[in-house]
Amino acid sequence: MNKEKLEKLNKEMLACTKCALSNGCKQVVPGAGSANAQIMFIGEAPGKKEDELGAPFVGAAGKFLDEMLAIIKLKREDVYIANTVKCRPIENRDPSQEEKDICWPWLEKQIAIIQPKIIVTLGRHSMNLFLPELKISEAHGKAIKKDFPEIGEQTFFTLYHPAAALYNGGLRQTLIKDFKKIPKVLRETDKG
Ligand code: URA
Repeated sequence: MNKEKLEKLNKEMLACTKCALSNGCKQVVPGAGSANAQIMFIGEAPGKKEDELGAPFVGAAGKFLDEMLAIIKLKREDVYIANTVKCRPIENRDPSQEEKDICWPWLEKQIAIIQPKIIVTLGRHSMNLFLPELKISEAHGKAIKKDFPEIGEQTFFTLYHPAAALYNGGLRQTLIKDFKKIPKVLRETDKG
């Protein structure tokens, strides 16, 4: 049921031309994974490799994400992975607030269909979309609940972006340490 709903939504996303990003990218990258996932990861935006292959996190940062998923005994098919914007910004620049705002209803619909138990935000762009007041240096590794009109009460778990941590030893260790908390956050969310 969720799978069909998500496939229908993906088709609509693939045809989206609501912002200028759609002119500069090769293809829209809606997201990938299980439509019934308990954990939804939300990154920033597709990069070069994602734009070429039409799937999220398939480059170096994605390989690191897969490694961290394996540490907590998960595969990418067990979770859902999406981004704040579905099209690659030219030259990998940061997506603008306007682009994120225009793309927001797609993300909102994805979350409403999947109804994940927890949303894991990857990096500050993703975190600040839901929790604009937070600083990633202070909020990383913490679970936060917030209510949204179309989504309802949602638990967020905020992490550094895998790309930022790839070549920074200290950040890498912090990200892995935070990542290992995900199963506990999930269990605690189950308890209500
Ligand atoms: N970085 C992101 O934020 N998202 C991707 O899909 C790939 C790299």
